[in-house]
Amino acid sequence: MKTFEKKLRQSASQHLDGKPAVTQGHVGWESPSNIAIVKYWGKYPGQVPANASLSMTLRESVTRTMIDFDFSEKRKKPGVDFEFHGAAHQGFARRIEKYLTGLSGFMPWISHTKFTIRSENTFPHSSGIASSASAMSALAACLCEIDEQMFGKDPAIEFEQKASFFARLGSGSAARSIYGRMAEWGITASCGDSSDEYAIPLPELHPDFFGLKDSILIITTGEKEVSSSLGHDLMRSNPYAKLRFEAAEENMQRLCNVMRNGDLGQFIDIMENEALSLHAMMMTSSPGYLLMKPGTLEAISRIRKFRAQTGLAIGFTLDAGANVHIIYPGQQEAAITNFIASDLEELCEEKTIIHDGMGMGPRKL
Ligand code: DP6
Repeated sequence: MKTFEKKLRQSASQHLDGKPAVTQGHVGWESPSNIAIVKYWGKYPGQVPANASLSMTLRESVTRTMIDFDFSEKRKKPGVDFEFHGAAHQGFARRIEKYLTGLSGFMPWISHTKFTIRSENTFPHSSGIASSASAMSALAACLCEIDEQMFGKDPAIEFEQKASFFARLGSGSAARSIYGRMAEWGITASCGDSSDEYAIPLPELHPDFFGLKDSILIITTGEKEVSSSLGHDLMRSNPYAKLRFEAAEENMQRLCNVMRNGDLGQFIDIMENEALSLHAMMMTSSPGYLLMKPGTLEAISRIRKFRAQTGLAIGFTLDAGANVHIIYPGQQEAAITNFIASDLEELCEEKTIIHDGMGMGPRKL
């Protein structure tokens, strides 16, 4: 068993027979999505990433989750009522119930609790913004807070580490959303304290990276043809997987240096290489698939041309979808938003662009 997992189980076993200090209450957390610069793509059982990843935490694209909880010893399994934007959602409720059941070994009170959950996102569904990252990190933060209200704080366990651990079990990328600015998840030689079990805030970040912007071109809002979970699975038989995991580690090492010394040119170079490598893995999986659309390619080509012409620090990254994240320093906002409006807006579905940027992580409501 992994180290932190063991610590959490030991901590839980201390209050197995104890009664919670409170049995009913209300908690709320807001948590952001994130955009990976070095991508997590491929995993082992137990949500163990095949390579370390690094992401920028967003500011505007958040999930707000409120939970009313009701503990009763008579109850033997968790109960979930779930509303998304005010409407009951059975599908999400069942998924959360399954997730909560999986966590009851760490927080045995979960099995005796009824959860009434209300959740909303500030960004449109299917916008290509990772809603599982914001949703699972908000939920994990809520659970950690209920745990503390019921049994007090264990001084040996940090709230964020625990929240990141639980968020990871819901969705790998959610582990990183627990920290502001930039977060790293997965064991890498570039970061001494790194872990596969939870994310950590990037230890050193050059101030030139503070306030990075992310303008997201919504090329399409259609459902993805291949889900991320299937994409991760297909890496198991991808003939290039081993090379990809090695390249990701090399990129992590280069990027961590760059994040310390503030070299924006190198940052863009690594970021774009990661985005294209991610999509190369999709194309070389069996069956192979393409999530980029003609608009994605056109946007990339225009961004690169604009960069060559102006010398501005502007680069792109892609998630597992067709939409394009344009990353640039806040100081260049005026020039770049003008370019986006004049040259890229026409490539977007209903001219939709979401302007976001670096955020400071989850917030208690
Ligand atoms: C392309 O975190 O969505 O966004 O762990 O199965 O929930 P699960 O996968 P998920 O995968 C994210 C993939 C990615 C890259 C990244 O965010 O690092």
